[in-house]
Amino acid sequence: MSDKPVSVLFVCLGNICRSPLAEAALREAAEAAGLNIEIDSAGTGNWHVGKGPDPRSCAAALRHGIDISAYRARQVSPDDFLRFDRIVALDARNLADLRQLAPPGGKARLSLLLDHVPGLEGRDVEDPYYGGLDGFETTWSQVSAAARNLVAELAGR
Ligand code: 4NP
Repeated sequence: MSDKPVSVLFVCLGNICRSPLAEAALREAAEAAGLNIEIDSAGTGNWHVGKGPDPRSCAAALRHGIDISAYRARQVSPDDFLRFDRIVALDARNLADLRQLAPPGGKARLSLLLDHVPGLEGRDVEDPYYGGLDGFETTWSQVSAAARNLVAELAGR
């Protein structure tokens, strides 16, 4: 195993609702496990570049003790496929868009976030942007379950 920490990028559409919560959940799970992981998130779209997370995502994270208000949205780029070991898409559309963007020779292994949660394989983390507050709680429970399993998987790599 190399000394370089494993790196994980979460990608959703806007990088203001779901992937910032996935980033926060993995930061927390990695810290709890004492595992050094380089973690970031990005969006396939560019509408919210430079903006903070949706206030409903900030509130959901705070309910679980994590302040994500300083996160800033960015758009995924072809370079990310060279930089990150893993790129985890929040839904199937994001995964398809990532496959289109992947440059030849990229090292990143792509996966769907809920493929890391037994029983939810193949499912999308539904976009809570247009829905109610309970959607953000569902997002949190899904991304935190995936984060715990990713930590276990990466600790044994
Ligand atoms: P996210 O949610 O992909 O979970 O960050 C969205 C946020 C904004 C938009 C779409 C999805 N939007 O169309 O502006």
